[in-house]
Amino acid sequence: MEMPQRVKIVEVGPRDGLQNESVQVPVGVKVELVERLASAGLPAVEAGSFVAPKWVPQMAASDDVFRRLSRRSGTSYPALVPNLKGMEAAIAADVQEIAVFVSASEGFSRKNLGCSRAESLSRLRDVFDLAIAQGIEVRGYISCIAGCPFDGDVPPAEVEAMASELIAMGCYELSLGDTIGVGTATQIRSIIGRVAADLPRERIAMHFHDTYGQGVANVLASLQEGISVFDSSVAGLGGCPYAPGATGNVATEDVLYLLHGLGISTGVDLAAVAETGAWISSTLGRQNMSRAGRALLARQQAGG
Ligand code: HMG
Ligand code: MG
Repeated sequence: MEMPQRVKIVEVGPRDGLQNESVQVPVGVKVELVERLASAGLPAVEAGSFVAPKWVPQMAASDDVFRRLSRRSGTSYPALVPNLKGMEAAIAADVQEIAVFVSASEGFSRKNLGCSRAESLSRLRDVFDLAIAQGIEVRGYISCIAGCPFDGDVPPAEVEAMASELIAMGCYELSLGDTIGVGTATQIRSIIGRVAADLPRERIAMHFHDTYGQGVANVLASLQEGISVFDSSVAGLGGCPYAPGATGNVATEDVLYLLHGLGISTGVDLAAVAETGAWISSTLGRQNMSRAGRALLARQQAGG
């Protein structure tokens, strides 16, 4: 299959990354992060989530983030929404695009959403009704596509089953998440093949966590399957509060370095993302997890 000539990157650092920080990140820092990423040319920056603050305290101020954000025309700023309550809060904060999330495995569904997969789908019906009534676009995430921290192996048929439910409800795009980063290239290609039987490949996004160092390899494997949308996180920020041991997403800088090296255009300024990655890492007092980001900055500091 031919690789795409252009790829869309969905930056998830301000949500998937920051949600895992134990120290409260000031709203001003979150807003600056989102704005810097958008001005680097990222076409979509996931800016927060309207989940229960009891479960994910770090995202509690997402409404303030959305209210203070200067939005660029042409950039989308999706927010994660788990239920009707979150949907109403997102609408009040003038969110224009939401992302809903379910799990391919039963164990992760119960930990992350507090209910079974079947119930998580039925809860989403109200969210979709409201989104459709308000003209809000809905992206769908499926977690644990390649393995679950509680249930172990996840058969691709389970991923396909959840995918067809979310498509039927009206998601414009599905993001398939390897939440714990265990998948390897052949496995990822076969999962894509399964989901692509029900959904055009342009509407499939891949969402890799880099726990086992497979993120960039899995992006390449997905490109070879004709996938052209990838989620990634500046400086490889993050993890998942409900997936023990999971590390951050594959780093945006590493994915951009791969794509640009392959001659695939993204419209994103890699140097600006690398600077933002260094800034947010030092602001949070954590190591910059992007290898490409660190290398580019070292080269710049050496005057090269
Ligand atoms: P629950 O405790 O079963 O819900 O949580 P509940 O209805 O019993 O409500 C409990 C309390 O939360 C109540 O407050 C509700 O009002 C409140 P209290 O009466 O105790 O004061 N509440 C809310 N508050 C604000 N916003 C809301 C909301 N809903 C209820 N939307 C629930 C069920 C789904 C809410 C909870 O389990 C939850 O918020 N889960 C989200 C967990 C999460 O954010 N996980 C990380 C994101 S997913 C992810 O990272 C994976 C992804 O990156 C892809 C991948 O990598 O695979 C997307
Ligand atoms: Mg994730």
